[in-house]
Amino acid sequence: MPQRPTDATPEVLPDAAAARVATFRETRWTAGVIGLGYVGLPLAVTAAARGLDVVGYDVSEEKVAQINAGVSHVEDVTDAELAEALAAGARFTTDAAVLAEADAIFIAVPSPLGRNRQPDMTFIESAAATVADHARPGQLISLESTTYPGTTEEYLLPAVEGAGLTVDEDVFVTFPPERVDPGNTLHTSEIPKVVGGVTPVSGAVGAAAYARLVDDVHVVSSARAAELTKLLENTYRAVNIAMVNELAQVADVFDIDIWEVIDAAATKPFGFQPFYPGPGVGGHCIPLDPQFLAWRARELKVATRFIDLAEDVNLHMPEYVVGRITAILNDAGLALRESTIVGVGIAYKRNIADDRESPSMDVLRLLARRGVGIRVLDPHVPAERIRSHGFEVVDDVAELGDADLVVILTDHDAVDYAAVAAAAPRVFDTRGVYRRGGVSAANVVSL
Ligand SMILES: NC(=O)c1ccc[n+]([C@@H]2O[C@H](COP(=O)([O-])OP(=O)(O)OC[C@H]3O[C@@H](n4cnc5c(N)ncnc54)[C@H](O)[C@@H]3O)[C@@H](O)[C@H]2O)c1
Repeated sequence: MPQRPTDATPEVLPDAAAARVATFRETRWTAGVIGLGYVGLPLAVTAAARGLDVVGYDVSEEKVAQINAGVSHVEDVTDAELAEALAAGARFTTDAAVLAEADAIFIAVPSPLGRNRQPDMTFIESAAATVADHARPGQLISLESTTYPGTTEEYLLPAVEGAGLTVDEDVFVTFPPERVDPGNTLHTSEIPKVVGGVTPVSGAVGAAAYARLVDDVHVVSSARAAELTKLLENTYRAVNIAMVNELAQVADVFDIDIWEVIDAAATKPFGFQPFYPGPGVGGHCIPLDPQFLAWRARELKVATRFIDLAEDVNLHMPEYVVGRITAILNDAGLALRESTIVGVGIAYKRNIADDRESPSMDVLRLLARRGVGIRVLDPHVPAERIRSHGFEVVDDVAELGDADLVVILTDHDAVDYAAVAAAAPRVFDTRGVYRRGGVSAANVVSL
């Protein structure tokens, strides 16, 4: 499908750019990917599936060996899809020199926060240095890592210019925010792509390349607008989740069921989108991305009060959950420090195995610190991974009878929640699985 032009798309492109647009639209070109993780590997496999040549580069020898052995480390890419990409000639390596073969280089390296929650730009910096070493005339250079507005201009422009390449003549530079949603059924190619160039010409060239990878491309006027688009999307989620987390606490004081209220409000056919409370926010996006904006805004002396308040509410949810658990046990005449609790789900969201930045882990660590014996049931996270956190593993719902309480922390579909409620003496449900699943049980208390 062709990209949707906007005011940002120049009517007439300079010759070099027009030639690249024609190449990206009409030929079998080579996609180069830097960073083969949750974002980069699906992108590489999508490019191969769409008939492009693919070269992938990663600094991790272990990851590259695993990928070349046909084993996908990302839920969104099946081994069969990876095998098809390898059979189609996709090559994965730790040798960055391969990037010189690429017509477009897509950078998908981590952009975490540092110890004081400031952006850690070291991965983007080193990827920019790699680009500088291997870029050649004609290439599109595209940064997919989430970051603050201005990053593409600050890191990629000096890198390519330092390599003697002129933007819009030799190379074209864009920022297209990545919207991959681990565990969701939407494939990379089905998720519309926003593309912003460091200039409108670069944006037009980038849009032509992405139109071969995804079904729908939306061009914005600048890389900065595209960078802020990503942060708007995730700040919107962080703020709305925080708002409903606060309302859940208010509803409990009023003795009102927040899940019933959300379901009722969601019948409104306009002006309302449901968000659900939980034990906090997790993953590498919702808790982190707004901080990129807050950090940059602070530097420019602009307040980001919504972001700060949302972070405050969301970060306190694990403590709130522990308070509710303490009260439930107290009502049963049980002391927290003498109790055994089973946490169901330690992944940061449903149906995935990733437990990094998981609020479930925060809840369980707080409980463990107060002397609670913790066991974990998670059908997605491997047993050795659970044990590495210092928790015992529960394999079977039948084992829940020994626990004093079961706390539902992640709403994996693979768990039989009716069986959990039948086996456990009491359940605290932080995800609304019973309310939303229509399962009623007298021993279940919901957040
Ligand atoms: N995972 C998500 O759901 C998601 C969603 C949207 C956006 N993002 C963003 O996409 C970016 C990548 O995230 P991810 O989840 O794919 O990370 P990841 O950790 O899964 O993968 C990153 C890969 O980059 C490699 N790498 C690190 N430095 C490198 C370098 N200098 N050169 C080559 N390879 C290098 C790592 O070895 C790793 O394999 C981040 O900015 C993230 O915020 C992630």
